[in-house]
Amino acid sequence: MADNEGNINAKDFGIGIPQVNEPFFLKGNNNAEWGMKSRLAGVFNPKSGHAVMLAFDHGYIMGPTSGLERIDLTIRPLIEYSDCIMCTRGILRSLVPPECRKPISLRFSAGSTILTSLNEECIQDIEEAIRINASLLAVMVAIGDPDHEGLTIRNLTRTVDLGTRYGIPTLGVTAVGKNLTRDARYLAMASRVCAENGAQVIKTYFCEENFEQVTNAVPVPIVIAGGKKLPEKDALSMAWRAIDQGAAGVDMGRNIFQSDSPIGMMLAVRAIVHENASVDEAFAIYEEYKNR
Ligand code: R5P
Repeated sequence: MADNEGNINAKDFGIGIPQVNEPFFLKGNNNAEWGMKSRLAGVFNPKSGHAVMLAFDHGYIMGPTSGLERIDLTIRPLIEYSDCIMCTRGILRSLVPPECRKPISLRFSAGSTILTSLNEECIQDIEEAIRINASLLAVMVAIGDPDHEGLTIRNLTRTVDLGTRYGIPTLGVTAVGKNLTRDARYLAMASRVCAENGAQVIKTYFCEENFEQVTNAVPVPIVIAGGKKLPEKDALSMAWRAIDQGAAGVDMGRNIFQSDSPIGMMLAVRAIVHENASVDEAFAIYEEYKNR
């Protein structure tokens, strides 16, 4: 028990040495509260400033998606290669072991499927996110969708309010509907609207032209979705160009779990995102693992 008896006199006060006062490493989040920064620093690697997120939440709108039929068999072996997993609470509880120490990006908005109108969504209870110790709250935002824009921005705004109360950052996910384009002008607008409404991280799509306009238009980190399955080298090239043009990481699903070597792709994407590997170097990593 601490007492004054035999107490060593405190004298090493470092007089003349300014107290360490480092800015937070992630763009736009320096003024966030400690708990929020702590969660963000769990998702994004403080050394590289980047993150490889593994997305397998597709079933909430698509049902048993190809590659996700048996998440226990296909996704569980990949988790250790990710910095963060993105999934629904149903899959988390059913198939992700609680021993998993990876940060969780919880699919926080849901409500309709590909069979009807996408983006007719509501959000979950914040207590649910606290209960499962979520590190990000992922909310779909459908900018330019005349039927759902207002609803999804309100979902985002409410999520930011709730997340801020408990130190959990919000991941604004820009939806791409049938009638919405994927050019830099649209993606910059959609991403910027999410950030203006308080999202601490944005997930959007890569575009072939002027993607740096998207990353520069937004004051917080952007991670890219992978989109539909591409040949492996094309997917790696997309990841490389996204990072090169200012993305802070990837939140990739189908281009990982629909690959003929999902672990090979995880390793290759990690090399690009964290180690600045070239596309050829990363592709060699993928091929080497695949041919073992
Ligand atoms: C969309 O928001 C889905 O929730 C997925 O998380 C997202 O599309 C990323 O997966 P993919 O890389 O397959 O596009």
